[in-house]
Amino acid sequence: MAPLPLFRIALLVSFSVVLTVLLGFGLPGMLNIVARFCGFHETNVTECIVSIYLVFVVYVAMPRIPRGLVEVKGKAVFITGCDSGFGHALAKRLHKLGFTVFAGCLFKDKGGEGAKDLEEFHSDHMKVLQLDVCSEEQVNQAVEYVHKNLEDTEKGLWAVVNNAGISTFGEVEFTTMDTYKQVSEVNLWGTIRVTKALLPLIRRAKGRVVNLASMYGRMGNALRSPYCISKYGVEAFSDCLRYEMKAWGVKVSIIEPGNFIVATGILTRDIVANTATKLWREAPPAVKEDYGKTHFDQHMALMRSYCNSGEKDVMPVLEDIIDAITSKRPYTRYTPQEPHWWIRVQAMTYLPAAISDRLYF
Ligand SMILES: NC(=O)c1ccc[n+]([C@@H]2O[C@H](COP(=O)([O-])OP(=O)(O)OC[C@H]3O[C@@H](n4cnc5c(N)ncnc54)[C@H](OP(=O)(O)O)[C@@H]3O)[C@@H](O)[C@H]2O)c1
Repeated sequence: MAPLPLFRIALLVSFSVVLTVLLGFGLPGMLNIVARFCGFHETNVTECIVSIYLVFVVYVAMPRIPRGLVEVKGKAVFITGCDSGFGHALAKRLHKLGFTVFAGCLFKDKGGEGAKDLEEFHSDHMKVLQLDVCSEEQVNQAVEYVHKNLEDTEKGLWAVVNNAGISTFGEVEFTTMDTYKQVSEVNLWGTIRVTKALLPLIRRAKGRVVNLASMYGRMGNALRSPYCISKYGVEAFSDCLRYEMKAWGVKVSIIEPGNFIVATGILTRDIVANTATKLWREAPPAVKEDYGKTHFDQHMALMRSYCNSGEKDVMPVLEDIIDAITSKRPYTRYTPQEPHWWIRVQAMTYLPAAISDRLYF
């Protein structure tokens, strides 16, 4: 890891000192005022601090508090993007748990390895189907297939997991409009297309919609604009849908994984190499001249270094998706992220941009 510049260290240290002084001296006084405002006669500051701390501990522990489980028997789940990564592993896990799995694979018809591997289950409860989420026709065919193969259409479909996704990178001035559209076509419009097509069946089951967003659905980053806008869109779509579905008893959850690049096929060295070639080839001459090849190559090297980064085990993501499907009271947002990414998302969401920008950029 690169050493932090002196300015950033000074900023972090002064921020912590100010926070400690404020909490140390200001908190008791503030609690007195709040307590008086709430009509309490005598304020016991120590008890107040302990209560706040307990609330914090409960908040941190909340994901582990049991909330009851739904019965799995007779329930079916539809997953997109099961050729590899989270989707592939999830299809296997849900099948093992006893769900009927409709596993959408992009390359089933072309004999893709991921689809073949799932077909080798030779199980009535593992149904592998061809699905490109960008194709209206294939999505309609998939819905027809689900209708025909559900045990009981009247009971509907229990859950859809919108997992299919692609990633790319590049500075705004190097990124073509076609690239912006391609990424959102899969990540955002694909999610909306599949959800809309399956909602009548999900509503019937009072079931679940689980959408794979990302930590990049909550914060931006340099070089990641095509991916970020698609994932911000997934977050917004999921929030709006959640409000609408409340009346129908359907629960909508968003999964915001941190960095699991090394564990899945989302950003391989081949993808980085091909993207780099394309970015430079398609960049306008003036952009190439202004930014320069050295600057460009440094950024591409940075992206290459990410290929081996992140969590190696996809289990935290799978556990959260499974919780969203099986818990009686699923959460709205799940954040399977390494601590440093989680802190960064919090800082960039809740601190004034003047502070978070200085900390991270
Ligand atoms: N890995 C991470 O660090 C990370 C972090 C945050 C969020 N996510 C999100 O998690 C989801 C799963 O990604 P992953 O990491 O498991 O990557 P992955 O291994 O590449 O899985 C994505 C799957 O989507 C499929 N796909 C691509 N385009 C499709 C299309 N048009 N229609 C249907 N399927 C399509 C891919 O098929 P092919 O492999 O056959 O191309 C692949 O099987 C994505 O939405 C991603 O944005 C991942």
